[in-house]
Amino acid sequence: MNISQAVTQAPLLGASSAQVGEDPIFELLQQFRQDPRDNKIDLGIGVYRDHLNRSPVFSAVKHAEQWRVDTEEDKAYIGPLGDLAFCEAITGLAMGEDLASEVRGRLACAQTPGGVGALRLAFELLAENNADTTLWLSDTTWQVHRPIASAAGLRQQNYAYYDPELGPLGFEAMLESLRAAKAGDAVLLQVSCHNPTGLDLNLEEWGRLADFCLQHGLLPLIDMAYHGLGDGLDADRQGLRIMAERMPELLLCYTCSKNFGLYRDRTGMVMAMTAGETQRGIVEKQWMQLATRHYFTPPAHGASLVRRILNHEQLRLEWQGELESIGDRIRGVRRRLFHSLSEAAGGRKWEFLLKGKGMFALFPLSVSEIRYLRSEHGLYIVDNGRVNLSGFNDLNFEHAVAAIGSL
Ligand SMILES: Cc1ncc(COP(=O)(O)O)c(C=O)c1O
Repeated sequence: MNISQAVTQAPLLGASSAQVGEDPIFELLQQFRQDPRDNKIDLGIGVYRDHLNRSPVFSAVKHAEQWRVDTEEDKAYIGPLGDLAFCEAITGLAMGEDLASEVRGRLACAQTPGGVGALRLAFELLAENNADTTLWLSDTTWQVHRPIASAAGLRQQNYAYYDPELGPLGFEAMLESLRAAKAGDAVLLQVSCHNPTGLDLNLEEWGRLADFCLQHGLLPLIDMAYHGLGDGLDADRQGLRIMAERMPELLLCYTCSKNFGLYRDRTGMVMAMTAGETQRGIVEKQWMQLATRHYFTPPAHGASLVRRILNHEQLRLEWQGELESIGDRIRGVRRRLFHSLSEAAGGRKWEFLLKGKGMFALFPLSVSEIRYLRSEHGLYIVDNGRVNLSGFNDLNFEHAVAAIGSL
């Protein structure tokens, strides 16, 4: 058969679009890039932007990169568990050094390609350990959680969190819906800066949730993607600490994409806090096998930078300073937007901007209003109303507020 005969047959690749889903955030970004208007504003993709609308490399990262160039001696594989010194530094950072050292003998960790790599491994571990497990996710949650859980073969259910009409549904509604979970199910929780609502549990609620999980035999799976961008490193880890102090077991997925600005360097960690040493050894082997199946060994670059920064007093201080200024800026944008939108669009409630934490908030706008803002004013907001608050800056603030006020 020659090539012209072969192409007349049904293609084997790309034959049907039936399985192809939409990716609303990246499609929006495409549209934004093609928009010729000078005053367009990207409030869509979840990348932090500074006051000049840049997503600059942290200066601590630059310094660590120079160190790496100067000292790296080989590029041999680092193995499926990745950089274990990085994992040790991240567990200390995530849990606090005191708690991390207390439970270290029960921790099975693997460095992963970003937070998505960590989530995929954690979800597959759940599915592999117990085919009956259901993963409970907040309704609503980050748009990528569900497809990753589906790919891992996990059954999924929602717990009440946020209603587009009613707003936040409150902790009692959340617990009420989790009453339907059975022992052995897992609950996906975002420890701070909930994506997309920005609305987090308070400490009392974390305590009650830990007791609830304990009582009902539920396993918390904590996604920590914005550590330090809410109320700072210490405040943002408290929910995880409460869970880890009260629960015998949990899973943690951590990413350095946002708090070290290492998005494209794919730098994350999955951690299982197990019931004891024996279980730790078993889970560690499972991480090895899961990683091998997917990517064999994770990328080394980002993890080596983070390890360097966290283990080097000066660089760590430099990084913390940079992270604090990001947090300050986001909190400032929240306050400024609250005041300006309360005046310009007073018919709507904007208090959620002050209550929320981190880069995201869900704006109470209808899909037709969001599309109108896009076509008439060049404001690019995801159709579900999620806004990246760091997309606002001095140059575009007035234009954006006036556009929203014109609705
Ligand atoms: C809640 C949440 N979890 C995990 C991730 C994954 O991060 P990464 O880019 O490191 O894969 C993100 C990224 O936006 C996120 O928002």
